[in-house]
Amino acid sequence: MEYTISISAQPERAVKDTKSIPFGQQPTEHMFVSEYRDGRWQNSRIVPFADLTMSPIALCLHYGQTVFEGMKAFAMNDGHINIFRPEKHYQRFNKSLERMCMPQVPKSLFMEALHQLVQLDGSWVPTEMDGSLYIRPFMIATESRLGVKISDEYLFMIVCTPAYQYYAKPLKVKVEDKYVRAADGGTGFAKCGGNYGGSFYPTQLAREAGYDQVLWTDSKTHEFFEESGTMNIMFCIDGKLITPPLSGSILDGVTRDSLLTLAKEKGIATEERPVRYKEIIEALESGKRVEAFGAGTAAVIAPIEVIAAAGKEYTCYIGEDALMYQLQKDLLNIRKGIAPDTHNWNYII
Ligand SMILES: Cc1ncc(COP(=O)(O)O)c(C=O)c1O
Repeated sequence: MEYTISISAQPERAVKDTKSIPFGQQPTEHMFVSEYRDGRWQNSRIVPFADLTMSPIALCLHYGQTVFEGMKAFAMNDGHINIFRPEKHYQRFNKSLERMCMPQVPKSLFMEALHQLVQLDGSWVPTEMDGSLYIRPFMIATESRLGVKISDEYLFMIVCTPAYQYYAKPLKVKVEDKYVRAADGGTGFAKCGGNYGGSFYPTQLAREAGYDQVLWTDSKTHEFFEESGTMNIMFCIDGKLITPPLSGSILDGVTRDSLLTLAKEKGIATEERPVRYKEIIEALESGKRVEAFGAGTAAVIAPIEVIAAAGKEYTCYIGEDALMYQLQKDLLNIRKGIAPDTHNWNYII
């Protein structure tokens, strides 16, 4: 089915120096909105960015039916703009929606909305090497009713914001062995708002103790790493790239998948397997070179310098020749159009 998107454009604002603005504070000129009512998507439109009006008894404000995605568009060296792996983000969006009993978004609507919006606000895509346009598709339940129920009405929207380097310096993380982010059978694999709300308190405690993030462990034994903040966790030890396997409790990260693919192509051995946190600590204690990093759309690669576990701090390798930086560079070169895109990851506008 084809969808019609009406566009009401507004003149561009003069805000161009976006680098000094903290991540996420400066939306671009326009946003996409579509309404789900009577079992179908309707009134799809791109309009000037503006506040929403909704009932105080809109269901999303009470029972957590909210799902989002996060992807990026890049300014390529030849002047084109490309959106990185939108189809993989689209698939994950629908998987999250299914878990939250929210309606699927048709692919043609998702792709057309993305294309039109990024094209219209294309002058907001930073051209610097560390710049990109962060794109946030999301859906909220809007039916106005206080009873606990699955909403019959929704808004699907897309907003964008310029983005630059996410973390200014390597991270100090704390292995979390009390609180959990997600459990088997829960919503950990879905990008639903509640997963993030629930992670704030333990993260806040870690911050107060001097750490940037927590490294989540599994809910049953607290012995195995899961992920960290808004990133999947990866390690390079003995020339191998090691990361926990996909499960019901961690997010199927697009960056994780891309880095694993690139590593395999470089001839680097990769292991997707349960990673016992003591294995990493033992490697660090034995003096091995251990690289640890978070992988995610916002940060791309966030090197971890310090891991704190059971009251002790361990230092990981962050030297310039680290493998993680090579993988990051390989990924960036594809996105920028410097290296060939052999996987068709770039959706060029
Ligand atoms: C909880 C969580 N894990 C991992 C990731 C990394 O996923 P991606 O690489 O698709 O951004 C994210 C970010 O979306 C996240 O929020």
